[in-house]
Amino acid sequence: MSNNQITIPVEKTANSRIGDVDFNDLPFGKHHSDHMFICTYENGQWDNPKVVPYGNLELDPAAKIFHYGQSVFEGMKAYKDISGKSWLFRPLDNQKRLNISAKRLAIPEVPEEIFIQGLIALLQTDKDWIPTTSGSSLYIRPFIFASGSGFHASPADAYTFMIACSPSGPYFTQKIKVLIENTYSRSANGGVGYAKAGGNYAGQFYPTQLAMDKGYHQVIWTDDNTHEYIEEAGAMNVFIRIHDTLITSPVSDRILDGITRKSILAIAKKEGIAVEERKITVSEVVEAAKNGSIKEMFGAGTAAVVSPIGAFGHDGTDYQLPEVEDSYADLMKKRITDIQYNRSEDPFGWRFEVK
Ligand code: PLP
Ligand code: COI
Repeated sequence: MSNNQITIPVEKTANSRIGDVDFNDLPFGKHHSDHMFICTYENGQWDNPKVVPYGNLELDPAAKIFHYGQSVFEGMKAYKDISGKSWLFRPLDNQKRLNISAKRLAIPEVPEEIFIQGLIALLQTDKDWIPTTSGSSLYIRPFIFASGSGFHASPADAYTFMIACSPSGPYFTQKIKVLIENTYSRSANGGVGYAKAGGNYAGQFYPTQLAMDKGYHQVIWTDDNTHEYIEEAGAMNVFIRIHDTLITSPVSDRILDGITRKSILAIAKKEGIAVEERKITVSEVVEAAKNGSIKEMFGAGTAAVVSPIGAFGHDGTDYQLPEVEDSYADLMKKRITDIQYNRSEDPFGWRFEVK
């Protein structure tokens, strides 16, 4: 980690909203903590990092974010253990991925020290917002957007990097039913699928809404060319257990390289579970559902953690997945959250204490 110390002034709010929030009932992403981190890019450099009270922004209507969607974001969480210590999970991976996304969107990369020290300063200020209620955490949303203005369709000359936080409960509160998509596409070769670009999500809303109207919670995206290969879900990577082997699609320039995904692959290998990172066809999954060899499917992501999939639909038919004892989903969820909440050893060195 970079040792280059930066100065981050903190302006504290005089009116904390923490008393207005019911920490026993935390919808995902609805409430925001008292402060936010903000830093601006002008004249070719990132400058003026500070923690300020959470609040509205003032932007030029011609800011390029509004017209050309030049924005990228990250998703992370802070966890509190029973002794009151605060933890992050693999924060440098998020910092690096933000810059991978930024580069693809012609956004200037944020130096590691601004990301990490800004995040720490914000979490130190808002540490009381990290929930201790079971299954809850402080969801952290770092994001960069084009605040520079002009209608010319070209990269902006000014950007804003911010971090905002939301005390949150589970993203999904039940087993999910997914639709394997065979009309719309989320991404394409040479596109921006591997980036956490805001527009990737906007583009999913309409097809996901159509799926929701039919009773599904999320879409599982397939390759744009043939719709025959499983790629990932709207906000999660996807794992499929056939017999006792855990299979997930390889990442590519169409798929987000999920931090939860790679953590699960590492944990599964350590547990002696057979894992395969390989292309998996829709026909193989449908066939496995018909012949009973499919045992489980689950999604994996920061917000979703490990979310079991109860059924999937494809081409007008729904396939129910069996209830299995000792599921891999439960095991993976336990192992990963035990590390995140400091309830177990961390043999991988993923945990990072926020002091
Ligand atoms: N795929 C997409 C499209 C996502 O939005 C996310 C969420 O961040 C993931 C996968 C999972 O990535 P991670 O585990 O790094 O949160
Ligand atoms: C996350 O898991 O952090 C995500 O970014 C998913 C999000 C779109 C809710």
